Amino acid sequence: MSTNDGFTLTDNKSGKKVDLPRMIGTVGPDLADIRTLYGSMDIFTYDPGFTSTGSCKSAITYIDGDQGILLHRGYPIEQLAEKSDFLETAYLILYGELPNPEQNKAFRKNVTYHSMLQDQMNYFYRGFRRDAHPMAVICGVVGAMAAFYHDSTNVNDPASREVASFRLIAKMPTIVAWAYKYSQGQPFIYPNNKMSYAENFLHMMFATPCEEYVPSPVLVKAMDRLLILHADHEQNASTSTVRLAGSSGANPFACIAAGIASLWGPAHGSANEAVLQQLREIGSVDRIPEIIARAKDKDDPFRLMGFGHRVYKNYDPRAKIMGQACKEVLKELGKEDEPLLKLAMELERIALSDDYFVSRKLFPNVDFYSGIILQAMGIPTSAFTCLFALARTVGWIAQWNEMHEDKDQKIGRPRQLYVGAPQRDYTPLDKR
Ligand code: SDX
Repeated sequence: MSTNDGFTLTDNKSGKKVDLPRMIGTVGPDLADIRTLYGSMDIFTYDPGFTSTGSCKSAITYIDGDQGILLHRGYPIEQLAEKSDFLETAYLILYGELPNPEQNKAFRKNVTYHSMLQDQMNYFYRGFRRDAHPMAVICGVVGAMAAFYHDSTNVNDPASREVASFRLIAKMPTIVAWAYKYSQGQPFIYPNNKMSYAENFLHMMFATPCEEYVPSPVLVKAMDRLLILHADHEQNASTSTVRLAGSSGANPFACIAAGIASLWGPAHGSANEAVLQQLREIGSVDRIPEIIARAKDKDDPFRLMGFGHRVYKNYDPRAKIMGQACKEVLKELGKEDEPLLKLAMELERIALSDDYFVSRKLFPNVDFYSGIILQAMGIPTSAFTCLFALARTVGWIAQWNEMHEDKDQKIGRPRQLYVGAPQRDYTPLDKR
């Protein structure tokens, strides 16, 4: 991992030099190991937003932003989206290999038989207003899981970590569906062990006790593929939040709740909700030039939601797959003339012919089309980011487990450049 043909940093002021080992991964840029920098040079590095900083070693996901490549444990996202399903991809992300038939069967059984919530949690929902944003609800409910599943909070015990991982992956569909049901004033629908993961989720979302509800196979397949596309994505803001919370030894449920809170930001996971709102505000193609002008205006904080990415400087491969799925699902549902889809495609066409976006390599990201599919499936806009959190839970918990297994990892504690007042003495009130 480290070699001696590394890097030498010279302090031009003091003339001091330090040799920094080079870290070489399987693929991607090399890293300079700067762990000895402060001790030998008495300086820190400065990198707000961590644009040039690696926080960990990871074997889970790799992104090549220039080529628009996304791999989970080496497998291209295009192949997983086409040939795998979410639970098989979840196994791959968690354990590093595709499951054999026995592992596949055991994993699915384990997830299926952990999908119910401790019945007291039923009452926990009732503390929320019915009109509470579902992200606020699931953030609270997931954090509260530490109070109901205390027996799987020993972060130093791999077996305890695995039980917590299963519980989180298995229960997130129930937690998200119940947050939606609660907002609708409808009774909770319990998990059905005969159904697949995506089918069970749609059933809990849309079934009622009054009649049988069989989710359409088209929607089940579309939901399963959407979950695959959102499963993990290197050290994004919410995953880094989960790792940082976990580095203090916090219990897995608190760490995933922290990830949900970070994902809720419009610059991150709730961009899918913001894209739909933005498309609705635009309303028609003749307003696109005005919106593009606002997005380009430096004095306007407005941004074209669903566009741009910290890593991808090419098309987000997930957006490509999502765009294709969008057209297929809408066609299947007889909604191919959905005005929002046509508006989104025209907005994409115009933006990608505008030098402002082209020169900054701003392409559609995973959130640009996902909202249109979700809306067509009957998912309310306010629940879009809950879907993202449901899927990303497998990535978060896999990265959290990887952090605990990494001997290099210690509590995260960044330093700073202090720009405040120099030391000074207290002035009594009557002297101010
Ligand atoms: C996700 O990190 C991940 O992997 C996240 C994610 C995952 O799976 O976990 O992929 C999921 O969060 C996708 C991103 C969803 N967010 C949005 O769609 C919100 C809109 N996008 C932007 O806010 C922005 O593009 C970010 C936050 C996604 C990335 O911002 P960066 O990397 O900090 O880029 P930047 O702000 O430095 O922008 C570079 C330039 C700036 O202009 P200049 O200063 O060079 O003149 O591009 C401009 C920005 O103003 N710019 C945009 C823009 N995004 C960047 N201008 C208009 N509209 C935009 N959307």
